[in-house]
Amino acid sequence: MKQKVLLTRVYPDKGIQILKEAGYEVTERTDDRPFEQDELIAEAQKHDILFCTLSDKIDKHVIQQCSHLEHIAQFAVGYDNIDVEEATKQGIPVSYTPGAMTEATADVAFGLMIAASRKMFFQHKNILSGNWKTFSPTADLGIELKNKTLGIFGLGRIGMAMAERCKGAYNMDIIYYSRSAKPEAEQKLGARKVDFDTLLQESDVISLHTALTPETKGVFDKRAFEKMKSTALFINTARGAVHNEKDLTEALKAGLIWGAGLDVTDPEPMSPDSPLLQMKNVAVLPHIGSGTIEARTKMSEMAARNIISYFDNGEIPFAVKPEVLK
Ligand code: NAP
Ligand code: GLV
Repeated sequence: MKQKVLLTRVYPDKGIQILKEAGYEVTERTDDRPFEQDELIAEAQKHDILFCTLSDKIDKHVIQQCSHLEHIAQFAVGYDNIDVEEATKQGIPVSYTPGAMTEATADVAFGLMIAASRKMFFQHKNILSGNWKTFSPTADLGIELKNKTLGIFGLGRIGMAMAERCKGAYNMDIIYYSRSAKPEAEQKLGARKVDFDTLLQESDVISLHTALTPETKGVFDKRAFEKMKSTALFINTARGAVHNEKDLTEALKAGLIWGAGLDVTDPEPMSPDSPLLQMKNVAVLPHIGSGTIEARTKMSEMAARNIISYFDNGEIPFAVKPEVLK
């Protein structure tokens, strides 16, 4: 029998089968809830490999208590839940699953943009509450997206897929703020790299697609919302902590921006009492960006193959820090 793998949640079958066929001893969960920190440590101490995801807080303490681990395989592209620096210090490689959910997540960003622009979630609630009395020529009108300007914050895989959708469907002008220039987006979509203030001032829709890092945490705050157009839509499918949720709520209340579409919130889960859920121009989803059968199956397979490849030949197809393996 090879190493013991702890699955922290109930994951799609594909990767589990691949691990079992390769001879790994796999501990599966039956109740699909995140472990408490002490449970996670106690369970991880009985295993060699952690197969985990973004709802598992694998911080410095957890890693120090589980420094025997031989691999942390993240079932997600974002890995801000893991203290990668500490894992690296302890000699534990961390792998992840980039690309598997690019199209699925861009679909959610695109869908939220349309839903918020037409107040769709609010209109749906109107039917449920019996408030659909008649056709109204003037009530609760939305805004159109054709020929508007899309501002992408963090133009990576998902940002590019969102930009392609907006260009194709609405001929939107694309501007972006990222650390490096993106020649493919510039050539293919006519995208223009701008500074942060220009992104805020010129965009009709701002869509967030950056990783959550110390540099991007809380970047969309009061000061940023004040610079945006009062007709602008704010879309976040990246991580909730890239925006300041209190400031976002105040900005929407004060009419500093027009609406918002969120697949990620801060905290998660969002409280059912959040004032954002009562706002007409806001659409919120419970972090389902990668939630298609295709994406989740692929993520499960990639996580399993990252583990197997590491123990077979010392290589990880998708390592967070490939330089550590050399
Ligand atoms: P990616 O290809 O690595 O793209 C992320 C982009 O963020 C990179 O291109 C990077 O730009 C940019 N970035 C990083 N730090 C930045 C900074 N300080 N300022 C501006 N831009 C910065 O990753 P991806 O596959 O598109 O995924 C992006 C993120 O989406 C993930 O990290 C995850 O948090 C989130 N996500 C959410 C869901 C969901 O279910 N809602 C699903 C998947 C992913 P440069 O290339 O210029 O460095
Ligand atoms: C989902 O949020 C991911 O990072 O894959």
